[in-house]
Amino acid sequence: MTNTLRKVQLSDNICVYRFGNPLVTGCSIMVPGETSFVRTEILPVFDWKEDNENLLLSAELGDDDALFGFGQHVGGINKRGRRLDLFCGQSLPHNPTNRRSNGNYPFFIYRANDKLTGFFFDFPSHIAADLGFEESDRMEFRVAHPDIDIYVYEGDHYNDICRSHVEITGRTFLPPLWAFGFHQCRYSYETEAEVRNVAEGFRSSGIPVDAIYMDIDYMDHYKVFSVNTERFPDLKGLISDMKADGVELVPIIDPGVKVEAGYEVYEEGIKENYFCTDAEGDPFTGAVWPGLTHFPDFLKPEVRKWWGDLYKVFTDQGIRGFWNDMNEPEIFYRPEELDALKEKVAEMDYTAFEDRGAIDFLESLSAWWQKDSYYDAFFQSLNGEKVLHRRVHNLYGMMMTRSVCEAFKDRHPHERFLLLSRASTAGSQRYGGVWTGDNHSWWEHLRLNIQMVISLGMAGQLYCGADIGGHCDEPDPELVIRWTQLGIFFPLFRNHTVKNSRAQEPYAFAESNRDILRNAIRLRYALLPYLYTEFMNSRKSGAPFLTPLFFHFKEACCDSLEDQFMVGNGLMAAPMLSPGSRHRQVYLPDGPWLHLAMREWNDFDVTLYPPGAHMVQNPLDTISLFLRENHLVLLTEPVKSTAEYNPQALHVIAFVTSKCAYRYYEDDGLSNNCDRGQYGEIIISAALEDGKPVGQVNIQEHGDYSLKVEKIVLELYGPAGDRVTQTISL
Ligand code: GLC
Repeated sequence: MTNTLRKVQLSDNICVYRFGNPLVTGCSIMVPGETSFVRTEILPVFDWKEDNENLLLSAELGDDDALFGFGQHVGGINKRGRRLDLFCGQSLPHNPTNRRSNGNYPFFIYRANDKLTGFFFDFPSHIAADLGFEESDRMEFRVAHPDIDIYVYEGDHYNDICRSHVEITGRTFLPPLWAFGFHQCRYSYETEAEVRNVAEGFRSSGIPVDAIYMDIDYMDHYKVFSVNTERFPDLKGLISDMKADGVELVPIIDPGVKVEAGYEVYEEGIKENYFCTDAEGDPFTGAVWPGLTHFPDFLKPEVRKWWGDLYKVFTDQGIRGFWNDMNEPEIFYRPEELDALKEKVAEMDYTAFEDRGAIDFLESLSAWWQKDSYYDAFFQSLNGEKVLHRRVHNLYGMMMTRSVCEAFKDRHPHERFLLLSRASTAGSQRYGGVWTGDNHSWWEHLRLNIQMVISLGMAGQLYCGADIGGHCDEPDPELVIRWTQLGIFFPLFRNHTVKNSRAQEPYAFAESNRDILRNAIRLRYALLPYLYTEFMNSRKSGAPFLTPLFFHFKEACCDSLEDQFMVGNGLMAAPMLSPGSRHRQVYLPDGPWLHLAMREWNDFDVTLYPPGAHMVQNPLDTISLFLRENHLVLLTEPVKSTAEYNPQALHVIAFVTSKCAYRYYEDDGLSNNCDRGQYGEIIISAALEDGKPVGQVNIQEHGDYSLKVEKIVLELYGPAGDRVTQTISL
């Protein structure tokens, strides 16, 4: 054994185990100093050994042991039985056995006999995880280098472990309120006129929208930070007209810089030595959308500064949101490989091509696309030392987003902005959120959306969502409706689709479907007081607000119910996930629940259900909300954009069997004043008096903040489901 294991106890619940001499990744914000470590032989749960320059961690799994988490990887929230490659990669398509994901979150909660242990592998390269695949009673992690920090979290509750992980990797960035509105995207809205039409489509159909995304075709020949001025002759005018209408434009930015003499970004990158280099020290070339490109080395602080400042061309015109794409980085091919392929084609014996030759050739073609070995062909610079890209691969997306986040904070220190990234890793949440990459318009991916978003939230990445309606392929109207009805619960609520697919904007559907979509999106806006409060609570506490049932209920069957989830502590979602179905089985744990069958935000039926399994009716035009006893939910009248958000009247629906209390949170939604003590809270409570629920409110304004709420309309349901209303003016 050449390696040494050392440990340091960071707090009662957090211990770091260090093998060898790991790279400082920037994922953890609490890296212990070398001197604080002491030698140990024992790593909790795992046996360890070195094996061919890898570190091999293995442990036996008991029959009922579970492995929850791993961020956005395909699979259940419990990943037991899966094989995963913990290495950022294009994960298209999200097939059930796909091992890679765009975002890599090497964090999981291991549950054995009710004991919970969290693990975070702070490691920027490849880990092959076998979570009971080869042998069902064994897990194994093959770490590509024997130098790694492993954080171990102990706690009695899942939330304790999640909180510890956030303590280590940092709390989520502060998204603006408009980030919680409805967002519309397509690859691509190709002209200024098209963008205006999309906005008009929403406005004329009365469907709220807060952001429209600009995919790569707004650029001139896919050159980042350029604009095609023929198709977008007046971007500045477009941005300000959209803003005046409550719509933010969000342009895409890719890391690959087109190799083209005279193109400023390219020229400057070359001159200053900002690009990743090949073995000879020349800029590394790979091909992405623009053709041949170089890739900025985001591990260099001066490159991050340079890159972050480039966004100024858009932020100066009023843009406040970006999506950073292709930043695993995705590399389609290398020119050397293309040349070799061309030679192969030229030399091909076409007589042999008629039999097996054609098959071999075509197979070799697909292997040549996005080869993993491209990551062995270039270098980055970490703290002045040259490192092979593969060694630090998982950091690329995070560091790209970090550069933008830092530049923005420098220039606009009090403003919020929205950054999304496709590639990400532990700690990325400090800089921006994520979407879950290129899914398909498949019902299977609707369910996967739940599993991915919940697992990301457990890992501290709270601001996330999937492409609603599916990115690749084409959905039928029912799938778009059910997906939108699910999406109302997720922080990022964005409809996106690929080139040449059917129109997927909610207003583009026939009237009856459009009405349903409008009601779903309006319900999302109506729920903002609750959803925003929950998000901000999670941001503060580190505990996720979208959680699996087992976070709350001990009943064994809750362990595997991944098609229902909690939104905060009071609300359960049980979305419709199958085509043609108008009923579904819903399990209601613990006590009685109130079913709110929402046709519109203010038009719903209420049914009281005892605990247990129920077959619940759920027509196409209805969203089911289940309210837990002694909890409440808040709504307000929906607006066409959060630019008009003004929850003067809060509508509270409470189910009171003894008493409940909720702390509503409000801030200005645009600045970071909330982090400087400027926000308002209202404690809304209700209790039974003579068998009937009676409500109370208590206002708390912090700093100079004045609450927008002027009136609270309480709709209180007692133990038998009987309704009492009450209005309290503030
Ligand atoms: C990638 C992104 C997708 C985008 C497309 C074109 O596939 O994941 O969202 O639309 O590139 O930019």
